[in-house]
Amino acid sequence: MKTRILSGIRPTGNIHIGNYLGAICSWISMLDTIDECFFCIVDQHALTTTEDSKDLRKNTLTIAAAYIASGIDPIKNNIFVQSHVPAHTELSWYFSCITPMGWLSRMTQFKDKSSKNKDQTMTGLFVYPTLMAADILAYKATHVPVGEDQKQHVELTRDIAQAFNNYVGKEIFTLPEPIIKKETSRIMSLRDGLKKMSKSDISDYSRIHLLDDNDTIQLKIRKAKTDAEPISGIIADLENRPEAKNLLNLYAIFTQNNIEKVLKEFEGKLFSEVKSKLADATVNHMEPIRLKILELLNDESTLIKYLKKGAESANSLVIPHMHEIRQSLNMLL
Ligand code: TYM
Repeated sequence: MKTRILSGIRPTGNIHIGNYLGAICSWISMLDTIDECFFCIVDQHALTTTEDSKDLRKNTLTIAAAYIASGIDPIKNNIFVQSHVPAHTELSWYFSCITPMGWLSRMTQFKDKSSKNKDQTMTGLFVYPTLMAADILAYKATHVPVGEDQKQHVELTRDIAQAFNNYVGKEIFTLPEPIIKKETSRIMSLRDGLKKMSKSDISDYSRIHLLDDNDTIQLKIRKAKTDAEPISGIIADLENRPEAKNLLNLYAIFTQNNIEKVLKEFEGKLFSEVKSKLADATVNHMEPIRLKILELLNDESTLIKYLKKGAESANSLVIPHMHEIRQSLNMLL
């Protein structure tokens, strides 16, 4: 069976190193072993948080540039915008007709985002996971590399696929596998080691953006929360020191070392030294990517050409799938 990745990022601005390490780097690590890759910029999902939609065009181009600058070849792979492929919203409607409200009510992201004002919560936020299931299943994707926070949505996608197959009495969908890389699946906030780094955190100092310049990266790491204890060489000691664990983990990732080696390097040292070395390693890694993003954004027409090419391949794959899906639903064709 052909292997196929489908994954995506919401173009909400503030793309940060959590998205880069948890999603984009994981995709890149799989490029050589997977037959076909589809990387989506999920602009319709971004509309579920209306405050993010005013810069949607600009943010969509920035995410496309970030994919390419990080090392995804837009010619060999398919980079495209969700709204350029109408099958996503059509399929999401079919899924909303077979997905119990109870399943959607249990989604932790929905519970978090709707908890403040239930009556004013928009329907789009509630049915968000059926659109995500459509993103994945329209392509019959076999692998979905994501960060830990999306695991529940991918598991729901599997349930929806199974429910659809049962409903039509045919194996239309195979169940996609979530791929979650342990070391990078949950990059934590720089201000609170118990919260994940997030685009919506009110503090800019909680995350490092892909477009932060070198001085800003240095400053954010210098200001990152830590504790006063020196570093012990024992991994288990990190369990009660979430901020320390996060910074040392980031250093291990950016220097391509394992955490044991990093602990040996810093044993008995203070956090000022870790922060200074981590800031240098982060700048070394992120600076070329930032410069490439800015260069790509300077040539919008080339970026748009890549996105059109991606949408053409995406549409030509999903149009026959949609035909089969409508047929399985006994629609008049
Ligand atoms: P989004 O835009 O919130 O995040 C994009 C990707 O980044 C990962 N991520 C993280 N990984 C590690 N540490 C973090 N702190 C961190 N924060 C975010 C996310 O897990 C995700 O992989 N619903 C999705 C977008 C989506 C999608 C899809 C993904 C829509 N359709 C189909 C995969 C397949 C979302 O909001 O991701």
